[in-house]
Amino acid sequence: MDEHLISTINKLQDALAPLGGGSQSPIDLPQITVVGSQSSGKSSVLENIVGRDFLPRGTGIVTRRPLVLQLINRRSKGTNGTNTNANDKGKDSTGSVSNELLDLDISDSKKPEDKKQDHSSGQSEDNKEEWGEFLHLPGKKFYNFDEIRQEIVKETDKVTGANSGISPVPINLRIYSPHVLTLTLVDLPGLTKVPVGDQPADIEKQIKDMLLKYISKPNAIILSVNAANTDLANSDGLKLAREVDPEGTRTIGVLTKVDLMDQGTDVIDILAGRVIPLRYGYIPVINRGQKDIEHNKTIRDALQDEKNFFESHSSYSSKAQYCGTPYLAKKLNSILLHHIRQTLPDIKGKIEATLKKYQQELINLGPETMDSASSVVLSMITDFANEYNGILDGEAKEISSQEL
Ligand code: GDP
Ligand code: NA
Ligand code: MG
Repeated sequence: MDEHLISTINKLQDALAPLGGGSQSPIDLPQITVVGSQSSGKSSVLENIVGRDFLPRGTGIVTRRPLVLQLINRRSKGTNGTNTNANDKGKDSTGSVSNELLDLDISDSKKPEDKKQDHSSGQSEDNKEEWGEFLHLPGKKFYNFDEIRQEIVKETDKVTGANSGISPVPINLRIYSPHVLTLTLVDLPGLTKVPVGDQPADIEKQIKDMLLKYISKPNAIILSVNAANTDLANSDGLKLAREVDPEGTRTIGVLTKVDLMDQGTDVIDILAGRVIPLRYGYIPVINRGQKDIEHNKTIRDALQDEKNFFESHSSYSSKAQYCGTPYLAKKLNSILLHHIRQTLPDIKGKIEATLKKYQQELINLGPETMDSASSVVLSMITDFANEYNGILDGEAKEISSQEL
């Protein structure tokens, strides 16, 4: 049921994309939105969660359009991606997410180390269990993740021009894999102060406005990415998050580049909530550095090194199970489910209201003047309203009985 819930939200997201999608969507769907300074490691964190290389990444402004990334857990061949994970069931529906997560077994969640990460085998038969699909290229399955990256770059340039411009129009990408937890994440351009290339003088404001559009929605969970070798108190991402979420109740912190901290320093004070406390806390991670990327270090090796780092470091070894990317992925999945459950009745009401509004608009237009675009939108909304109201009703009932 858990995975099903997120997959229902994913379908709503796709169906609503023609209405302006992402930031303009009339219905505010729960999703995890990544914010932070440029080069703080946002795209690297997302790649590690997926366990594959597929994002444009590096120094400078690389992410220039929002990327709505839907990860869909697909257990094995012949299944349809809506499997439930019996281990998760009921564990994240009530109470404090952070405390419950202390009991969760993450060993079964994501095993990138089982997965061949060799790019040269991207087209081979044994890799057919993992693929990407873009909303703008329906039906085209990308088994080669290098081609996913190329398509993101191409789509970015198509809308923004090749020279560092930005655009709020999202790219929608789904990744189906047995090695991901079902999650919806939004990668966003990083906060920057100095215009480069053809960027307008007000680039800082443009990016800030774009980020605010995504994170100010009450249903956005804010993944605030901060490099551990910079001062948290000066973090622009965290400042922005606190503008829209002053109590820190829907912000989760990620500390990257823990490997680059000065000898003898650590992030223990931040983890303990003694610097800037967040309800969901902070998770330290280690991504690949620029050198690692140049030397083609695999994500599999990177995740192993990350694990070894936390387990052998005197500051972190006693809490190594709450550090690193696999724990971050598990925690995000759990937070997203918790959030969807809380907002389900409201989403259902808004879907019904949207459906009524479009039906009325089309009736007013009359059948002769109905253009094909609006009829496509109407039939999509009608389809999911019919199909998913039943599901949402079922989910809502199950939730309320669980909560009694
Ligand atoms: P973004 O601009 O926030 O999306 O950042 P990227 O993911 O593109 O990363 C920016 C640069 O920082 C890249 O060269 C990464 O290799 C490097 N980087 C990111 N995270 C880490 C980390 O945890 N450790 C190290 N050493 N380098 C990192
Ligand atoms: Na970057
Ligand atoms: Mg990026």
